[in-house]
Amino acid sequence: MKKLLIATKNQGKIKEIKKELTDFAMDIVGLENVNLPEDSAVQEPAITMEGNAIIKAMTYGNKTGLLTLAEDAGLEVDALNGRPGVLSARYASGTDKDRYLKLLREMQAVSDKKRGAQFRSVIAIYDPESEKIRTCEGIYRGKIIQTPKGKQGFGYDPIFLNENLGKTNAQMTAEEKNSVSHRGKALKNAKEILKKEFKQ
Ligand code: IMP
Repeated sequence: MKKLLIATKNQGKIKEIKKELTDFAMDIVGLENVNLPEDSAVQEPAITMEGNAIIKAMTYGNKTGLLTLAEDAGLEVDALNGRPGVLSARYASGTDKDRYLKLLREMQAVSDKKRGAQFRSVIAIYDPESEKIRTCEGIYRGKIIQTPKGKQGFGYDPIFLNENLGKTNAQMTAEEKNSVSHRGKALKNAKEILKKEFKQ
């Protein structure tokens, strides 16, 4: 079976990506399963998520020789003109909690009606043999609540409310989150691309 490398060290993402690809006819391997030189950490220098996803997929694909899927994601808040966006992981130093608390402080004066936001996930798939690269994305809209809720997920999940389900991402299982999330949507698109364009 052809191997597919999932090029991320984020444990939250790995859990969701593996769950979505369980029934997929490829041998899914993570960065922990491949031998990489010590200096293999990839910076994210691009100013778009697409740019960073492409850099990650090409870097790890070329280092390992494997078909590689990389993802870059972020939270885009309407009242903050799309911030933190591509800078979501580096919005404040410290932990995920430090970052979402900073966001909540910035939104203290924003009324309930104007608290719309979306997660965006951009996936790049790269085959080092053919040098073919493809990208796709998924968008997931919701609302930033005032008080964090839930313990599942990662990142900004405790403050992102799915209004249809009446719960935050952090109150969902990985399966439930995948059924509605940016990453779940992007992965469904990625599976189609893999079947159509990267099959052996
Ligand atoms: P990346 O590793 O550069 O893609 O950074 C993504 C950052 O965006 C993460 O560290 C989180 O802070 C945030 N993020 C992306 N996807 C999610 C999600 O599904 N839930 C919560 N936060 C997310």
